[in-house]
Amino acid sequence: MASAQTAGSIDLFAPEFRADPYPAYRTLRAHTPVLSVADGTWLLTSYAHCHSVLRDPLWSADVRNRGQHATRLGARGRGTPLEGLLGQLMVFRDPPDHTRLRGLVQKVFTPRRIEELRPRVECIVDELLSAAVRGGRMDVMAEFAFPLPVVVIAELLGVPPADRERFGGWAADLAYVFEPLLDRRRWVRAIRAGRAFRAYLLELVDQRRASPGEDVLSALVEAELEGDQLSEDELITNCALILIAGHETTMNLIGNGLLALDRHPSELSRLREDLSLAPQAVEEFLRYDSPVQLTLRTALEDRHIGGSVIERGQTVLLMLGAANRDPKRFDDPDSLILDRPDNRHLAFGGGPHYCLGNALARMEAEVAFAALLARLPSLNVDETELVYRDSVALRGVQQLHVTFRV
Ligand code: HEM
Repeated sequence: MASAQTAGSIDLFAPEFRADPYPAYRTLRAHTPVLSVADGTWLLTSYAHCHSVLRDPLWSADVRNRGQHATRLGARGRGTPLEGLLGQLMVFRDPPDHTRLRGLVQKVFTPRRIEELRPRVECIVDELLSAAVRGGRMDVMAEFAFPLPVVVIAELLGVPPADRERFGGWAADLAYVFEPLLDRRRWVRAIRAGRAFRAYLLELVDQRRASPGEDVLSALVEAELEGDQLSEDELITNCALILIAGHETTMNLIGNGLLALDRHPSELSRLREDLSLAPQAVEEFLRYDSPVQLTLRTALEDRHIGGSVIERGQTVLLMLGAANRDPKRFDDPDSLILDRPDNRHLAFGGGPHYCLGNALARMEAEVAFAALLARLPSLNVDETELVYRDSVALRGVQQLHVTFRV
């Protein structure tokens, strides 16, 4: 019998799998695209199945609908210590609560507000690169990809610069709530970070009530004050979600994208010669090596998928990273093709929970790659000793050392 941590022949925790999950995905997709693991949990690896589950209202994103089998997978299910926290996050809610919460945050998270941030993101990128360039080498993850989204989200929420370091630490610990297989050590860290972050935000919210600013937090406080649309708890936890969801994901998009370019030198040259390809390149990085590898849904009724019956209360792991390499959807899926036509990948999910921060992530990555390539004409990525972060849901390396001449 497969354990909770293995899926058929895949051990989602094995370092070899983490280093390169794609051969295992290929085998599964070809032979058992709907795979039952022994504990009432299924693994879906085809684009068509993942795409349809994401859009089907009979699949719930609500952690509280998960049965005991899912609870055994870790601390995310019903009756577990994280339930209280997770139950408030829009990403783990279904309509009508999801619609209400998303509507409120979306209202203040407008494309205009994101586009207005672009010049500021260009400055932040420039400052980070200037600091790194002086040494002739850098760890792209620690010195560039990690601080960039933290600073951007902090500015968006209106977090004072002096508090950003603490903010970054909480983001890293809270990111574990996306893990479907969460051990005790991690959820203890996540809960601690959640408490500290909550206390911090409550103070900030009080300040915004007294003197509102132009930031997203002030706009959400206004929504809270205007009626009973948004409770204080929901306000706090959904700010936490913006931080968690936008941090490690964006950081990994930069790291994974740079590695992909390093392994495809002709595509790297093409991008260097024509930086207007950056938006398409970012789409291809998202597809080719997706920062979020999986998400979960629970069946609200018995569902038939690919000849299998998934019973009510059972949970599927939608392997977005596998779906994005499905040859039935993408020609030559294992190649990086920067101007790939019709590149509608599932890296941001799909349906009602489609990533709310997609425009921000795309913009940050475009600015980051354009600046990296323009400012560092000879960039050498050191691929020895690459270690992937200890995560099943999020994919990215711990460190990525580069050297360059300027
Ligand atoms: C490369 C970067 C990113 C990736 C790959 C990514 C991926 C995703 C995915 C796959 C989902 C859907 C989860 C599901 O359906 O279960 C999602 C939802 C979400 N993302 Fe992102 N994300 C990124 C960046 C961001 C940023 C920068 C923010 C905000 C600042 C953000 C905020 C959110 C929120 C609030 C949701 C929940 C939306 C809902 O439930 O309606 N994300 N993201």
